[in-house]
Amino acid sequence: MDQNDLGTDIEKVLVTEAQIKHRLMELASDIDRDYHDREILLVGVLKGAVMVMADLARALHNPVRMDWMAVSSYGSGTKSSGVVRILKDLDTDLKDQHVLIVEDIIDSGLTLSWLLSNLRSRGAASVEVCTLLRKPEALKVDLDVRYVGFDVPNEFVIGYGLDYAEKYRNVPFVATLAPHVYR
Ligand code: XMP
Ligand code: MG
Repeated sequence: MDQNDLGTDIEKVLVTEAQIKHRLMELASDIDRDYHDREILLVGVLKGAVMVMADLARALHNPVRMDWMAVSSYGSGTKSSGVVRILKDLDTDLKDQHVLIVEDIIDSGLTLSWLLSNLRSRGAASVEVCTLLRKPEALKVDLDVRYVGFDVPNEFVIGYGLDYAEKYRNVPFVATLAPHVYR
């Protein structure tokens, strides 16, 4: 799929497919180096992180284990409440594991902040975070995120796993939507 397939839906492409690919290679090489003496458990946060997880995992040189969690923090509104509900929990026991959380985007950071303390409380040896996108202007909590793909402006973005009403997750780049889409 490319931009032509989307007609007038896209307002602006913020991160291209090639930029994502290149940056994930860089992050994978940092991760390979940092974890050269430890086995990683990648924990993907559904559904948004599916694309990042698939591409990042394949860019790594070391074999890893992968598990998934689904959480919800949005309730009925569009802003993060910080009140997180587990919709699907991990299958893996985290005791003594080196966990790398794989996220699509950090917005307010409230979801991730909750997730970090939740996973740490399960006895993991370490918990770090890799996110494709971060909105620095939207951050409400102090977070130590080791691997960040791109900082984006404080606007709603879609593509590469991110959706608007479950649509556009398969768009291979990250973009803002034209206003008419929301009407
Ligand atoms: P917080 O605010 O807790 O939110 O950091 C994190 C989760 O909210 C979703 N989110 C978005 N989804 N476009 C999306 O499609 C966006 O611009 C956006 N901002 C936040 C996402 O699920 C993320 O994990
Ligand atoms: Mg998400």
